Amino acid sequence: RHDNGQRMYRAPMTAVRPVRLNRRAGLTAGASLVGLSTPGTAFAVGEPASMNRQDHAPGTAPPHHPGSQVASRLRDLADARGIRIGAAVASRPLVAEPAYGDVLAREFSSVTCENVMKPGFLQPSPGRFDFQAADAIVAFATAHAMTIRGHTLAWHNQNPPWLERVAASGENAGAALRDHITGVLTHYRNDGPVPVPAWDVVNEAITDTGALRDTLWARALGPGYLADLFRWANEADPDARLFYNDYGAEGMGRKADAVYELLRGLVQDGVPVHGVGLQMHVGIGARQSPSRPDLAANIARLRALGLEVHVTEMDVKLQTGTGTDDERLAEQAQVYADILGTCIEAGVTSFTFWGFTDAHSWIPGFTGKPDGALPFDTTYAPKPAYHALTRVLAGG
Ligand code: G3I
Repeated sequence: RHDNGQRMYRAPMTAVRPVRLNRRAGLTAGASLVGLSTPGTAFAVGEPASMNRQDHAPGTAPPHHPGSQVASRLRDLADARGIRIGAAVASRPLVAEPAYGDVLAREFSSVTCENVMKPGFLQPSPGRFDFQAADAIVAFATAHAMTIRGHTLAWHNQNPPWLERVAASGENAGAALRDHITGVLTHYRNDGPVPVPAWDVVNEAITDTGALRDTLWARALGPGYLADLFRWANEADPDARLFYNDYGAEGMGRKADAVYELLRGLVQDGVPVHGVGLQMHVGIGARQSPSRPDLAANIARLRALGLEVHVTEMDVKLQTGTGTDDERLAEQAQVYADILGTCIEAGVTSFTFWGFTDAHSWIPGFTGKPDGALPFDTTYAPKPAYHALTRVLAGG
């Protein structure tokens, strides 16, 4: 499971090195995951996720027309069920590949910026905010009647070096983080011209064993820091819906219990927290995704605190399973269907994938192996997972 070590992401990644993928490269015996997507040029492990396995030249149409095999759009079906269906969006393909924007606007009713709303992008140097890239995605979303999930205000990754230095010095760390939150939420106030209705205020503050994670913010601000972040965000925009977001806390278990207890305490103390984001980075194969009863029970107890529950970053890795390509794709479709079905029944109000096309997914770069974790393949054709999701949304 992804341990959030994130070492790969810290390495400087400069030149893009195209490599020919052997159809079985990096796979377990008998597998041919690469066959799941158009074979051809791929990019070496360690390159930015957004550059992985681009199978057609930027700016040109993909080989299959993305509209050809779709009967009903996810977003129309989701509207009818009263749930938002979303995708994390990368800036580069949105500009470079027409099919990317076409499918995004056609299928989804919510967007999350995969990277460009993180502090390293929004405040690259002290007091100098740069909203350009984020606002371009917000403008796209607004033009296509999509809502926006803001991601993320406080995390231990993707901070600008200056902010890391301030946090490490301990002096003025709280003021710096508070200024960041205030600057961002003022720009995106819900009574202003560029409203962002929901925010992941804090990302991944609990460890896999259920302890408070030892981060730059926990060290600088002390164990009670999470409550302050929500209060600062609420002061900056009282209309924003404020979320705690984490991975590996979807089903029942040590980490899920810790997240629940954290939120129970915050709610009890009157802290303005409105929801929980369950990331849902899962895989096929035994114990790689939460069981339906566990997921339902966890969502139910979080909702019983008065919190809204969103699925914020779902993808389903194929590399964790076995079998032929077709078998893996069928299993992946089942995992997507089981989780979406459980979430709809349990009252989840927003369901977001971490990307939507296998052409642009963080998974190969992070795991070092080719995969195909999303509902559309690298040519933007819908996969069995897509069809399973439409069936669930249609109530079948
Ligand atoms: O911005 C630089 C760019 O200037 C440079 O040219 C390029 C070349 O290396 O790198 C760019 O930064 C990359 C950044 O994405 C933007 O593309 C980083 O190297 C890369 O590490 C970073 O990865 C992101 C990762 O968060 C960072 O930890 C992934 O795309 C993104 O999918 C991932 O998202 C996280 C969620 O925020 C929280 N939950 C887990 C999830 C997956 O790790």
